[in-house]
Amino acid sequence: MADVDQEQQLAKSRVEELRSDINYHDYRYHVLDQPEISDGEYDELVRELSGLEERYPELITPDSPTQRVGGEPVAAFGIVEHPVPLLSLGNAFGEEELRAWHKRAAGLAETDKFDLVCEPKIDGLAVALEYREGQFAVGSTRGDGQRGENITQNLRTIKSIPHRVSGKDLPPRFEVRGEVFMTKAGFETMNEQRADAGEPLFANPRNSAAGAVRQLDPSITAQRPLDCFIYALGWAKGGSTPASHLKTLEWLSKLGFNINPHIRKYKSVGQVWKQCAAWGDKRETLDYEIDGVVVKIDDLSLHERLGVAGREPRWAVAFKFPPTQRTTTLLKIHENVGRTGSINPFAELEPVNIGGTTVKMATLHNEEDIRRKDVRPGDTVIVQRAGDVIPQIVGPVLSKRRKGLRRYKPRETCPSCKTKLVRPEGEVMRYCVNPACPAQAFRRLEHFVSRGAMDIDGVGEQLSYTLLKDGLVKNPADLYTLTKEQLLDLERMGEKSAQNVIAAIDASRSRPLSRVLFALGIRHVGSETADLLATQFGTIQALMDASEEELAAVPTIGPIVAQTVHAYFEDKQSRALVKKLQAGGVQMKAAAPATRDGPLSGQSFVISGTLAGFSRPEAEARIRSLGGATGSSVTKKTDVLVVGESPGSKLEKAQRYGTTILNNDEFMALLRQHGAA
Ligand code: IVH
Repeated sequence: MADVDQEQQLAKSRVEELRSDINYHDYRYHVLDQPEISDGEYDELVRELSGLEERYPELITPDSPTQRVGGEPVAAFGIVEHPVPLLSLGNAFGEEELRAWHKRAAGLAETDKFDLVCEPKIDGLAVALEYREGQFAVGSTRGDGQRGENITQNLRTIKSIPHRVSGKDLPPRFEVRGEVFMTKAGFETMNEQRADAGEPLFANPRNSAAGAVRQLDPSITAQRPLDCFIYALGWAKGGSTPASHLKTLEWLSKLGFNINPHIRKYKSVGQVWKQCAAWGDKRETLDYEIDGVVVKIDDLSLHERLGVAGREPRWAVAFKFPPTQRTTTLLKIHENVGRTGSINPFAELEPVNIGGTTVKMATLHNEEDIRRKDVRPGDTVIVQRAGDVIPQIVGPVLSKRRKGLRRYKPRETCPSCKTKLVRPEGEVMRYCVNPACPAQAFRRLEHFVSRGAMDIDGVGEQLSYTLLKDGLVKNPADLYTLTKEQLLDLERMGEKSAQNVIAAIDASRSRPLSRVLFALGIRHVGSETADLLATQFGTIQALMDASEEELAAVPTIGPIVAQTVHAYFEDKQSRALVKKLQAGGVQMKAAAPATRDGPLSGQSFVISGTLAGFSRPEAEARIRSLGGATGSSVTKKTDVLVVGESPGSKLEKAQRYGTTILNNDEFMALLRQHGAA
């Protein structure tokens, strides 16, 4: 008995602690727009609290954060009472929790034969828009769910919110609900402009959208690239409205509201789970941030039957993607040397698990980035991981900064060869300019043998290091004069391994010109640019002889790339390297002969999204076979953007530049016209 009492006592004090923490974070997130923990960590606090309240229902109080929706409205805007409260959503973090939600709903509905609707969970700011006689009358934030802030004037500046709607049987008064957000492309452009103007940068699209909507001056909101998706009818007085959620959205779409195009209906929870998992991978293809998938029961009569628990409707649930942000301690800032001599700072972190992966390092890009974010060794920092990209540091948590932490001081000398570093004017990086720097030589060799370059299996990091250290290889071309006997002299190198290494080196002699160009590690020449140069010039000699103007005339090659490539081949050492590679038997054949005068020559294409019936490389190969050039990002020089499904931010850029845009069918027609379909 005593144990039970003690356990309850412990639970009580933990519940109080959690409530106070959650209230504090709600305030920082909803009122100040300055969260200091990640969404994932916040969700964990709420989950722990809900769990304890479920076990000890006597601890539930009406003011518990589980019983309301976070965020006090700010009086300066004027308060809007929500006649029907704006609810929140319960979370499901995996298949089991999704099925558990479904089972509970099916139990209450006394059937599991109901359709489910899946929609991307937009990571923005919830708003309610009231229309009177078809006119947009009042727009408000969610606030605490009962009362929000009046932000009508600000919302009027958002182009996708109609000022007027019309249709037959329109209810004289109704309210729609949705999410205001900023596109990723809009966010980036805005931050670029702010950086140019020396203004502080926004941390992410969600915070910028929230900040923009809650401006006291609507003309500031109007300058921000905001958008809005409507996801529900809040209430309606008079008129007639549809009986299912999806039909309601279709009706709202006809009225002129912006409805997310990816919303679909499914018959079973199994199908829904497949979609949730698929969206985890597809989310990067969207031009706005989503943090999960909202699953709703389609039949609105079931919404009434199932009702609400606390602040969460039982007829809907949010499947949340695993968190991509966490906080941890930045232990130390290190620098490594890139193959071009660039000094790349990175953070050593107290290991932290983010979405199932332990993260110990994060990139810090360059010294400017560190200065701008003002991250200091010893800081608690927010770390972010998305897809396959290297984890990044979002910024420090200033409220947790201990006294006496020193600002980072960029180093003056190369960590490898101690040469004094230089920072070219207008650049954000420092460089080691010693051509004989061992760290650079190592990186160059590592890059040369890597999979996307010469793909020399067996010469990995370890062997590259040994070959350089023992002086057997000074530059990549030396690989082609290595003998098996030399390799056998190395420690821990057996007959079989030596043979394999020699065979792998030999196989690399037939890599096409594009691979060789990429392998050379010329600044700004990634694999796509290398492909382009190889198809346009055909031979390494033609490329080495090309003038800067000739290089710049290639579609999608800009002046900086032209200048760098030209300077690279002007350099005696580079020419010597190429010669030595040729002498070593590297053939450098152009993969597909340049079709200089095909029907598409002189035109540059970029593909965005998924094309029906074609992989992207296939489609690009066809364009090139007709003489066209292909690139990966839309610039002012792009002539045509081909858009497939989920085109992403390239479409917006192309629209801005007035680039010709072809859809899947138009692209197929173009290929057919030239006999390449
Ligand atoms: S439905 C009771 N649908 O997520 C239904 N919400 O965590 C509540 N959200 O406050 C809203 N996309 O701000 C719904 N397609 C979507 C949504 C969505 C984003 C936000 C919304 C809500 C929050 C709940």
